[in-house]
Amino acid sequence: MSDRYSVSKAVVTGGARGIGAAIAERLAGEGLAVTVLDVNEAGARETAERISAKTGSAVFGFGCDVTDRANVQAAFAAAADAMNGIDTYIGNAGITRDRMFHKLTDEDWDQVIAVNLTGAFNGLRACVPWLRTEGPGRVVLMSSLVAKAGNIGQMNYIASKAGVVGLVRSGALELARFGTTVNGIRPGFIVTEMTAKMPEAALTKLSQNPIGRAGLPADIAGTVAFLCSTDADFITGHIIDVNGGLDL
Ligand SMILES: NC(=O)c1ccc[n+]([C@@H]2O[C@H](COP(=O)([O-])OP(=O)(O)OC[C@H]3O[C@@H](n4cnc5c(N)ncnc54)[C@H](O)[C@@H]3O)[C@@H](O)[C@H]2O)c1
Repeated sequence: MSDRYSVSKAVVTGGARGIGAAIAERLAGEGLAVTVLDVNEAGARETAERISAKTGSAVFGFGCDVTDRANVQAAFAAAADAMNGIDTYIGNAGITRDRMFHKLTDEDWDQVIAVNLTGAFNGLRACVPWLRTEGPGRVVLMSSLVAKAGNIGQMNYIASKAGVVGLVRSGALELARFGTTVNGIRPGFIVTEMTAKMPEAALTKLSQNPIGRAGLPADIAGTVAFLCSTDADFITGHIIDVNGGLDL
């Protein structure tokens, strides 16, 4: 592994596909051992096998529903067993249940908060035995552009992603003394199966930003790799916008 990294054992939630899979592939490509966790257990295993074959790094895949606390504890313990510890946590699992707010059901609200916010917290807490030991550590949590600006039809999603910013800020303060930095990313529109569900009219907006192209999972993975590298040793509690300048 290059000396650009002082960490070496990463867990990526929601890593079976999309942005999470790109992050897992990038970190494995940098030489880190990686464990992919996903509610889609077969997908997690297949993605791990594919990335391991491509990069030559040790990559493991386990089923994990981030909303189920016992399941999260067990999955992180399995990841730590497989990698001989955990020093990097990428809280990426997320869902949308978009509807105008007066049509949101209790289930739409509860599910999105449970996966995106409580799920990110569950992973952070499951990492405690490893992150609260002296030594370098990294946490990167996935927020969203819309958490800053607001958006019609996404009140549940936006509340969850604004909550993630709170986890980043307070996590950075709590974990700094152990050597772990905690940062977040606010992706703009990134081409994945999540955005493929957007209405046709909204899809045309994907590349309407100053850079003039749609965002790709690799754009987010590159930012995660930077935040996990020694180049970012002095950055914590920060949220990076990766959106092609969409909010300018
Ligand atoms: N795609 C975008 O434009 C965009 C923009 C801003 C933020 N994000 C955020 O980035 C993250 C990844 O998004 P994506 O576009 O790759 O989505 P995606 O739907 O392609 O992938 C999400 C992954 O999370 C997994 N997942 C869902 N619920 C889970 C659970 N309960 N436990 C464990 N895993 C679960 C899914 O199985 C899937 O593999 C999400 O947090 C999303 O909110 C995406």
